[in-house]
Amino acid sequence: MAKLFEPFRIKSLLLPNRIVMPPMCQYSSNQDGFVNAWHLTHYATRAIGKVGLIIVEATAVEPKGRITSKDLGIWSDKHIEGLKKIVDICKSYGAKVGIQLAHAGRKSQVTDETPVAPSPIPFSTDYKTPNELSVDEINDIVEKFKNGAKRALKAGFDIIEIHSAHGYLLNEFLSPLTNKRNDNYGGSLENRVRLLNQVLKEVKKVWPDDKPISVRISAEEYDKKGNHPEDLVNILNLLKDKPDIYHVSSGGVINTKINVYPGYQIKHSEIIKRGTNKPTIAGGLITQSYMAEEILQNKRADLVFVGRELLRNPYWPLQAAHELNHEIEWPKQYERAKLDK
Ligand code: FNR
Repeated sequence: MAKLFEPFRIKSLLLPNRIVMPPMCQYSSNQDGFVNAWHLTHYATRAIGKVGLIIVEATAVEPKGRITSKDLGIWSDKHIEGLKKIVDICKSYGAKVGIQLAHAGRKSQVTDETPVAPSPIPFSTDYKTPNELSVDEINDIVEKFKNGAKRALKAGFDIIEIHSAHGYLLNEFLSPLTNKRNDNYGGSLENRVRLLNQVLKEVKKVWPDDKPISVRISAEEYDKKGNHPEDLVNILNLLKDKPDIYHVSSGGVINTKINVYPGYQIKHSEIIKRGTNKPTIAGGLITQSYMAEEILQNKRADLVFVGRELLRNPYWPLQAAHELNHEIEWPKQYERAKLDK
């Protein structure tokens, strides 16, 4: 049997297959972070296409935590209704659904806000210089992640993902390139992981024990002085309140060019998986079913994310099942289009 179509359990969550749609910002909210028809159609289409786990795009825990003014938000109870619609429609087609809780930190480009960060260093000359967060402000952001998790639960999500990758706020604290603080939040690994630890601790107070939590990480920062996969292992092993799975990505911390190629992040996943003894979601330029199958069969990751290929082809899992000789139930409305064995 194709491993890509084997179910996978994390706590009480039973995924129907190993295909994950990673969070991908749609920058399509017309107003104040609310869900609209675009989001419903976009996510529902991938659920119809048999993606096992759909992780809804980076959703901001506070207005200042948006990348743009068109990002989705979860900073108010009013956001729950729209998010619940995404959950309900995707579940009705058999997918499991997660949401990425995010704070953009110094990479926020919301025009009427000054971004915040561990240290007042701009991402590039195109970005504003962020305000350095005080300890009170840090605690306030922790509370906002917790409130976001509470709302995600009310909306019915199966899993939450804490965005600690791509140079956004939590990643900025982890990285020596962006965190130059002299207090309890900077310097040593213990100090740099403090904020992520706090977020996980508080989120776990409101997120049920039997539901999983994912943390997305940039395992490689593509700078000699930045974090590398082995550093991430050391950082993550310091967490007291551990997540259930790591979603392994890379980059985005500094403005630099990355040499990308199919599978370029899989080696990072292997190091994180082995070093933390936790399951991983891995991917990056994965477009072919047999590439995903190889990653899983060789235990380089437990789940595979397929991002842009699912933007090109929302029914990718149906095609992958055909290629891997796996019998999958097609939506009955599309049965006449079923690929022949
Ligand atoms: C992304 N990515 C991304 N990552 C993340 O953690 N949160 C997000 O909201 C987004 N937003 C986003 C939007 C768009 C349009 C793209 C293309 C990408 C990164 C994404 O999840 C994934 O890691 C990369 O796209 C690499 O995987 P693929 O596309 O090569 O399979």
